[in-house]
Parts: sequence; structure tokens; C-alpha cells
Amino acid sequence: AIDRAIRPRRLTDYIGQPAVREQMDIFVHAARGRSEALDHTLIFGPPGLGKTTLAHIIANEMGVSMRQTSGPVLDKPGDLAALLTNLEPHDVLFVDEIHRLSAVVEEVLYPAMEDFQIDIMIGEGPAARSIKLDLPPFTLVGATTRAGLLTSPLRDRFGIVQRLEYYNVADLTGIVKRSAHLLNLSIDETGCREIAGRARGTPRIANRLLRRVRDYAEVRADGHISGEVAHAAMELLNVDRNGFDEQDRRLLLAIMEKFDGGPVGLDSVAAAIGEERGTIEDVVEPYLIQQGYLMRTPRGRMATRNAWLHFGLNPPSQPDTAP
Ligand code: ADE
Repeated sequence: AIDRAIRPRRLTDYIGQPAVREQMDIFVHAARGRSEALDHTLIFGPPGLGKTTLAHIIANEMGVSMRQTSGPVLDKPGDLAALLTNLEPHDVLFVDEIHRLSAVVEEVLYPAMEDFQIDIMIGEGPAARSIKLDLPPFTLVGATTRAGLLTSPLRDRFGIVQRLEYYNVADLTGIVKRSAHLLNLSIDETGCREIAGRARGTPRIANRLLRRVRDYAEVRADGHISGEVAHAAMELLNVDRNGFDEQDRRLLLAIMEKFDGGPVGLDSVAAAIGEERGTIEDVVEPYLIQQGYLMRTPRGRMATRNAWLHFGLNPPSQPDTAP
């Protein structure tokens, strides 16, 4: 319920991602002006950056309804057919984790996206027959953590592809300020910036930290979130000054302390910290790479000089940077 209260509903309320915002504003207005459905849109980027939020905004800006599902949930072609045949013209069908669609469901999706038609099998055995159904023109909005995980026939059917980037501290400060206002919280600029600076470039984390800092401010202070209160709450939450959480620290420390800083293969680090390789690749690593603490090299992962310094460790004297 809280999420619904603070999720932006229009492009003008969406903070950051200026290129995405400007392009989507143009594409939406052009489609509306021609009374057409918006082209199929693929949104990719790390978790928590607002892919679902953007899908909702696209539907709102188009003035249509949105149906939502996800790759792993849509496991039978019939489920997809039921969703598609119940859409109103120009509606948005949002498929989260679209890289996890099964091959049979993807096969149904291709003609649906391309020609607004589906071929479905009715019945089984000798009585089985295939029927063709016309669909209303619709917009498929797909979301994935990495575009590289999509099959190329699926990727090629999206007319619009948007990549969400990690947010800078200024934009995250704006997001915290906006959320605090909508939640009727008392917070000052320093409090907003303190939270924003530790949110790992991610609005979902910023909003989560804001709620935990509010708890702290209500119990340990007078409810007002000053920079000092926010700082004390962050210490309690174990979020360090770079916004690194427990997982980030475990990954970097394992590479430095168990593998001499790398290069080390993904499977070895995954085993060392007891985490799934997919989670490391999609959730943990992208931020550390973007911030310059980790490198992916052909021979494996390496901690950068910044990583050693961040943890107060001595970087190897002859850094092994050969490819
Ligand atoms: N909440 C999540 N993402 C947001 C964004 N980009 N702007 C404003 N609020 C948000």
C-alpha cells in the first residue's frame, strides 16, 4: 500500500533517467496522435530501478489499462492466449522477467507481437485442431535484468528498447524527498542526502531505507529525520558509506582475502560466499562494476585498487591487470 502511495504515475513525476523520459514522452505522444498502440517496449536494467514503475507510467500516459504477469508464471500457451484475447485495444501487457518465458510460450508470442494474431491448439490427439484468433492491437512491455538473456527473435520484435541506469545521488535525493513528502515525514535536505548516498543507486533501496530511518527516528528521536538521525540509523542497519550491503562486502572481501584479489571465476566466488551465480551477476556485481570496485576480465573477477582501499587493506604491490 505504501508502494502504491509513492510510485510516480506520470512521466513528469519520474525523477532521473532523462534520456528514457524524453524518448518515452515523444513515442507515447506520437502513438497517441496517430491513435495507435505504442510499439512493443523492452525495459532492461538491474533490479529496483523502476522497470515496473515505468511500465505503469507508459500505460497511464497512453490512457490504457495494464495487465501484468511474469515469465515464470506464464508457463502454458493457453494462459498467454487468455490474457491476450481479453485485452482492450492499445492496452499494455506487462511481462516481468521476460527472459524466463518458456520456448512454447515464446512461439505463441511472436505472431501475437508481429501480426496481432495467435495460433492455438484446441483439444488433444486426433481431435486436436489449430485455430487462428485476431487480437486487438496491444503493447507488450517486457522487463528483464539483462537484455543479453533474451533470445534474439524475441529481442528483435521490440521496436523500443530502454536501458535503465543506476541513479546518481542528486536524483536519489529528489526521490527520497518526494517519497518523504508523500508519506508526510519530517526530513531535511541532509537527511535526504544521507539516505540517497547509501541507496546503491537504486530507488527501491532508497525508499526502503527511508522507512527504516523513519522507524529509527520515531523510536530513538523525536520523529524528525535530520542528517544525524539518518546517519545513526544507517550505522544500525549496517549500510556503509558507499551503500555497500552485507552481500557486496562478502563478495569483495572473498575475492580479496580468499583469491588474492582475483582474477577468479564466478563459480568459485559463488561457492566461497554461498550465493547463486545468477544473483551475483544480476544483482550484486553491476553496481560494484559501475562504481569501480570490481572488474569482469576474460580470466575472471578482480577487485580493483578502490576495493582494497575501501576496506583498509593493502592492494597487491604488483596489481595483476593483464587480460
Ligand atoms: N520511485 C521509484 N523510481 C522513481 C523515479 N524514477 N522517480 C520518482 N520516484 C520513483
